[in-house]
Amino acid sequence: MKLSTNRIPLALLLVLLPCFLACAAQTRPAPPVARVRVVQESSQDPHSFAQPDEVVVEHLKLDLTVDFPRKQLTGRASLRIKNKRGANHLILDTRDLDVRRVTLDEGQATRFTLRDPVELLGRALEIEITPQTQWVNIDYSTRPEAAALQWLDPAQTASKTAPFLLTQSESILARTWVPCQDTPGVRMTYEATVRAPRGLLALMSAENPTADSADGVYHFQMRQPIPSYLLALAVGELAFRPLDRRSGVYAEPTVIDLAAWELADTPKMIDAAERLYGPYRWGRYDLLVLPPSFPYGGMENPRLTFATPTILARDRSLVSLVAHELAHSWSGNLVTNATWNDFWLNEGFTNYFERRIMEALYGKDYADMLAVLGRQDLQSAIDELGADSPDTHLFLNITGRDPDEVTGDIAYEKGALFLRTIEEAVGRDRFDTFLRSWFETHAFQSADTAQFVTYLQDNLLKNDPQLADRLKIESWIYGPGVPANEAKVRSTALAQVDQQVKAFAQGTPAGQLQTQGWTSHHWLHFIRNLPEPLGRDKMADLDAAFRFTQSGNSEILNAWFLRAIQGNYEPAWPALERFLVGMGRRKFLKPLYTELAKTPAGAEMALRIYEQARPGYHPLSQQMVDEILGWRPLT
Ligand code: BES
Ligand code: ZN
Repeated sequence: MKLSTNRIPLALLLVLLPCFLACAAQTRPAPPVARVRVVQESSQDPHSFAQPDEVVVEHLKLDLTVDFPRKQLTGRASLRIKNKRGANHLILDTRDLDVRRVTLDEGQATRFTLRDPVELLGRALEIEITPQTQWVNIDYSTRPEAAALQWLDPAQTASKTAPFLLTQSESILARTWVPCQDTPGVRMTYEATVRAPRGLLALMSAENPTADSADGVYHFQMRQPIPSYLLALAVGELAFRPLDRRSGVYAEPTVIDLAAWELADTPKMIDAAERLYGPYRWGRYDLLVLPPSFPYGGMENPRLTFATPTILARDRSLVSLVAHELAHSWSGNLVTNATWNDFWLNEGFTNYFERRIMEALYGKDYADMLAVLGRQDLQSAIDELGADSPDTHLFLNITGRDPDEVTGDIAYEKGALFLRTIEEAVGRDRFDTFLRSWFETHAFQSADTAQFVTYLQDNLLKNDPQLADRLKIESWIYGPGVPANEAKVRSTALAQVDQQVKAFAQGTPAGQLQTQGWTSHHWLHFIRNLPEPLGRDKMADLDAAFRFTQSGNSEILNAWFLRAIQGNYEPAWPALERFLVGMGRRKFLKPLYTELAKTPAGAEMALRIYEQARPGYHPLSQQMVDEILGWRPLT
């Protein structure tokens, strides 16, 4: 990419020079960690045009009108800037934005250009400023196809009575609804005025109202500095229920009671998280349960986690998602990955932290089950990518690629396993103290992988070079697959499930298996580990005994439908179709459509279902399934 080309030779030189000198002097070359660090320090975010070393945005003031019939946000973004080097230009990220006019400070018009679009990144907006400029005001509108925005018709909501708007800014989509320095390396505070149709409630990743305003106008404040990918807005017919003094749930009126019941342990999770890693720094913690098209399980928008309704299993079995999004209030929102190459610092830490919260609330057996299931996910990801694939490194190089497509289970599961491995090596108390101080000393800052490695070396390993060696830090972070020193994860509960899997494989009928007291995690493990191929008779036997096809648990349905597709188990088709049409969560759409697409008959069924389902999916899910199925609009 243009911005980084002039930096690479210098970085390369810096990498090669020490090695060169070392070789010339017949000494050992510098260790890999130090070498890689040099590259990172001189690199900039490859997914942003912004040049925050020159001018940095410190505060954002939005004034937006929500126009449902036009599927458009219209208004003004005012940016308060700090000009560090007397620059004459401010460069912002935009994608699919129509910019009408740009003014400075009290209103003098200024020149601006939208550079040619670059695939994925959109168009750099270059604005003429002076070294004295403090405010840059941009009058603009979004396009209906803006990738961060989903505009739902009333029919696509639970209540069916009002339209709904939701945003998803991570990873690089904030620029499709707000002109900004769209890099996780920059933080800003923000305030907003949102003008919505009367009768609808607007919510943001900020201080929020709990009831509709009479005129549909809402004001928001986010007083802590956040990266752009945490900008979020939702507008719809919404109700609120408090859970305790500092947390509550928003959802559509027909869902609110169920949501409040399902998520009732949230306050305990906040307490547990604070005991582990220090005070919650964001004031309130609320959750918003969205309509089913929300493309993710959860999104850690500060003060207001966005969540899929597919976690409402009616037995609280999927609440680890809340622990996860809550944990991001430390790992991610407080200490933020500097670029998307460092994504594991967000998600690996959060996954580790999530399981610590779950252990604190529900005990070690429960957390062990999650860890074993996670280890399976890691193995599947490695098998799929190839054991030597650079995409199995923790520190990635994804320049030129879409972060949302690359950053999968490796960051989550290999990252968490790495931290668990360190924990076991140094002991839990020491590791907790270390993590607490990592969060505290880097609060409201971005950090890259090299900074973490340095911090780890300086604070945990410095007096113990042998330990540093044993931990194989370089292999974990800059190498493929899973290093041999991985912490072993075991679950006695799931070992018992393994025995039942074995009995079933050896001919015990499903109805005679010992499954008393199994939770959805036992079942998930059971389904995933059934022998392959299963054959239709065995599937029918299982289904008759355990009614998987009728399950109300989205994780179980996902695992079961995968097996059903592989085994051509037709009785599951109507339920599979309902599942695929009824929700838009990428985590489920991806494996199911991918599996269907493997055979001609499956691909035909997938396309038929997708024609019906596609209009209800978020643009992000549409983009993903379009690619899986090679879908093109009928002309
Ligand atoms: N921050 C992620 C969601 C995300 C990641 C959005 C990358 C866009 C790009 C969120 O915290 C997350 O990890 N969600 C998971 C659920 C979690 C329990 C693992 C999901 O959506 O499935
Ligand atoms: Zn996450």
